[in-house]
Amino acid sequence: MSQFGISPDDIVLDIGAGTGALTAPLLQLIKSGRIIAADISERMLKEACRHFADDRVLFTCTDACHLAFTTGMFDKIVCYSAFPHIQKPRRALSEFYRVLKAGGKVVIFHNCCSRKLNHYHARMAGIVSFDKLPKSEWLQAWLKGTGFVEISTIEQPDFYWVEAAKGKG
Ligand SMILES: C[S@@+](CC[C@H](N)C(=O)[O-])C[C@H]1O[C@@H](n2cnc3c(N)ncnc32)[C@H](O)[C@@H]1O
Repeated sequence: MSQFGISPDDIVLDIGAGTGALTAPLLQLIKSGRIIAADISERMLKEACRHFADDRVLFTCTDACHLAFTTGMFDKIVCYSAFPHIQKPRRALSEFYRVLKAGGKVVIFHNCCSRKLNHYHARMAGIVSFDKLPKSEWLQAWLKGTGFVEISTIEQPDFYWVEAAKGKG
């Protein structure tokens, strides 16, 4: 996360925050900023709430495909281990674009590559078995189609990182 350039006063959206695995490390990077930990699951957020008693973290139950936030509100968006579970991923990318400030950045990342993760999901029972992380080059193309610029990708067996920016113009 420290590589992603989060500034101490940034307003950061942690989308698909779940129980807040990323929220604690994010908190260490901000001072006067805020972390908005958002998830579609109220139950996950309730669990997350129990771990944080910090005014700089706010929890919101919302769908990544229909974000309950004002246009141009966030400096950064982080989406860790959640993108494959979003049912309309391209719609979510449009929403990420909308809620970012001009010059803001998004990162979608995982601790393994798409091939390994998709294989892992496919072996699981239930709806998750159909959830797919696109190859980084596909995601890159989707981001470009959405209007994002400065897109960079790393996809290695144990790392997947795709970041992009909303142009300043
Ligand atoms: C595997 S968990 C990852 C949670 C957390 N980022 C972590 O690393 O511990 C995926 C999360 O994505 C959330 N999610 C799935 N679809 C979503 C959507 N459309 N909008 C927001 N969150 C969503 C799920 O509720 C779940 O909490």
